Amino acid sequence: MTQVIAITGKGGTGKTAIAALLIRYLTKGNKVVLAIDADPDSNLPETLGCEAEKGIGDMKEFMLKERDNLPPDINKESIFESKIYEVLAEMPRYDLLVMGRPEGSGCYCYANNLLRGIMDRLVKNYDVVIIDTAAGLEHFSRKIIRDVDDLIVVTDGSRRGLRTGERIRELVGELEANVRNIYVVANKVTDANKSTIIETAKELELELIGTVEVDEMIQERDLVGSPLFDLPDDSVAVQEVENIAKKLKL
Ligand SMILES: Nc1ncnc2c1ncn2[C@@H]1O[C@H](COP(=O)(O)OP(=O)(O)O)[C@@H](O)[C@H]1O
Ligand SMILES: [Mg+2]
Repeated sequence: MTQVIAITGKGGTGKTAIAALLIRYLTKGNKVVLAIDADPDSNLPETLGCEAEKGIGDMKEFMLKERDNLPPDINKESIFESKIYEVLAEMPRYDLLVMGRPEGSGCYCYANNLLRGIMDRLVKNYDVVIIDTAAGLEHFSRKIIRDVDDLIVVTDGSRRGLRTGERIRELVGELEANVRNIYVVANKVTDANKSTIIETAKELELELIGTVEVDEMIQERDLVGSPLFDLPDDSVAVQEVENIAKKLKL
């Protein structure tokens, strides 16, 4: 069975950083891993230290453009599927798929309907799928990924931030996506606010599975623009994400 983990939360809270560190953890083990960058403002590849030239968005455009030019007897789903495999980047320890550009003004229902079936099949090839999402849950409502085992809401340490976790729990209830567990990770926590965060999460009945401290090593990498994937084992964020990964049974 594939374990699908989606990471959501407001912009700038650290979704991509947490996704990259979960992937980093997984590459030390034997699981077959797919990373999906589902944020149109894509930066997961950069954070992982790799590149992806094209994304699913480009292939959707291709399908919309070519749809009427393809011979009627050809199986369009298998053409689209081969296009998706074309943009699947194979790294030594994981595969990477970038959603890429946001949808234009055309109607994407046709492409999205095909994509759902393709993604269902693709995901089954992996032990773990880690999805770095944009703020908001649009792709869930479009149901490109239908089943999510663990939805991780990354928040900053503020009470308002934790309220996002509460809101997302409500939102998931309204969506048709199948989400098994919802967890909260408080990121960029400091000694000063850690205990308040733990109390607030309890009060809001949010399952807090990790508190990641402000990590100087991350800040240093931000300054020079180098990937977080190469953080050393003794980075505080690496260590805490390892604890989170164990709680997720990764
Ligand atoms: N624990 C942390 N300590 C210090 N800086 C962090 C931490 N987590 C994330 N950051 C930094 O915060 C910024 C936003 O993180 P990012 O993962 O890009 O957020 P998001 O994907 O939610 O928009 C980045 O510059 C990132 O390096
Ligand atoms: Mg991001």
